Amino acid sequence: MFTNECLNVNEQGHLTIGGCDTVELANEFGTPLYVMDEATIRNTCRKYKESFEKYYNGNGMPLYASKALSCKEIYRIVNDEGFGIDVVSGGELYTALSANFPPEKIHFHGNNKTFEELNMAIDAHIGVIVVDNMTELNMLNQLSKEKNIRTNISLRIKPGVDAHTHQFVQTGQIDSKFGFALETGEAFYAVKLALQCENLVLKELHCHIGSQIFELSPFTLAAEILMNFIIKIKNECNFLVHSLNLGGGFGIHYTDNDTPKPYDYFMREVSAVVNKMAEENGIPVPYIHIEPGRSIVGESGITLYTVGCVKDIKNVRTYVSIDGGMFDNIRYALYQAEYTVLNASKASSKPDTTVTVAGKCCETGDLIQENVNVADPQPGEILAVLSTGAYNYSMSSNYNRNLRPAIVMIKDGKPRIIVKRESLEDLIRNDI
Ligand code: LLP
Repeated sequence: MFTNECLNVNEQGHLTIGGCDTVELANEFGTPLYVMDEATIRNTCRKYKESFEKYYNGNGMPLYASKALSCKEIYRIVNDEGFGIDVVSGGELYTALSANFPPEKIHFHGNNKTFEELNMAIDAHIGVIVVDNMTELNMLNQLSKEKNIRTNISLRIKPGVDAHTHQFVQTGQIDSKFGFALETGEAFYAVKLALQCENLVLKELHCHIGSQIFELSPFTLAAEILMNFIIKIKNECNFLVHSLNLGGGFGIHYTDNDTPKPYDYFMREVSAVVNKMAEENGIPVPYIHIEPGRSIVGESGITLYTVGCVKDIKNVRTYVSIDGGMFDNIRYALYQAEYTVLNASKASSKPDTTVTVAGKCCETGDLIQENVNVADPQPGEILAVLSTGAYNYSMSSNYNRNLRPAIVMIKDGKPRIIVKRESLEDLIRNDI
């Protein structure tokens, strides 16, 4: 019935996740509530790890892109699974370090890292700082000089592959705020400059071409372009770049319109390009990183809401209002992102009512989904929105001074709170 193995329906007709009855979870922990299944997260991590063994002889390490969901427990889980992480702010870095994440497995991204953030990253001895621009390159070299250390860096390269279109396009110079452009020579200039910086060690080249991608060709093309660049650097600068980070972006299932292929397939095809080009050009295969975020946590999570009022506007539409909204899931308001919604209280009933699920914020656009078919939702029943594990909690807010929901993790059929529900006191903690 579900593409996601952690979901099922029990004898009461209630949706279950990881063997737990969602209606009982809603009663015990309150709503709105994020619920995640730990086995799903770990299984996905293992699939990525296995593909590194299979296609790169273990010569590489996947990094979890923690912008998808950053909290202490997720850092503990991915560390346990042998992953590194990428962080994109001092806040994510602080959270990871406070969960005792090994600093040497942390990569720091961002197109405008502040002086304080760079300072913090250096002092924590993190693995790699992914340099985005010339200002940062100079600032980092200066800072490292003052501290009398050599900092490992990666350079973020714009490969000119834009996967954010119906049919991906290869353009000379994509309009992006991230990274150094290849086409203009900027990226090569940055490499030469980095090699001259005494307090920087150029370890890696990095690219990331987009998110929620299903097609293979943008990934293989980006890999080919980056490998060509590594070969050019070897030939023209007599310098061998040690590692290659090919970014994240693997698509997941939100609705039945999404048909993701197994990640192993992408890994196999991309590695074939990398391995072949290395062999043909007589260079060692670089140490490989990838940075999946959404695909690690997305499908493991659901959000539970309690239905409040149901407003049937004849010949217009039926609004089903829930106790959450854009403060816990802004993705429909922001991107018209599609989700599967179901009535968790009667999950085996036919989804025969077309409704618009509305949040509780004072904002007309505060919708979770429009025109979805759900089994006749009634006040007090529990609605579930599926595949909310990525970019929901991490993009949540206190808009209208709503409280961020708790996150409950299920393991071996037992729920535990990994992030507490915010309290009213939390809201005014910084108010003077
Ligand atoms: N690496 C870099 C450098 C990235 O910028 C991203 C995502 C990732 C890795 C992870 O990509 P993933 O595997 O999760 O697709 N808020 C948007 C998604 C923004 C993604 C930004 N960068 C959303 O809710 O769909």
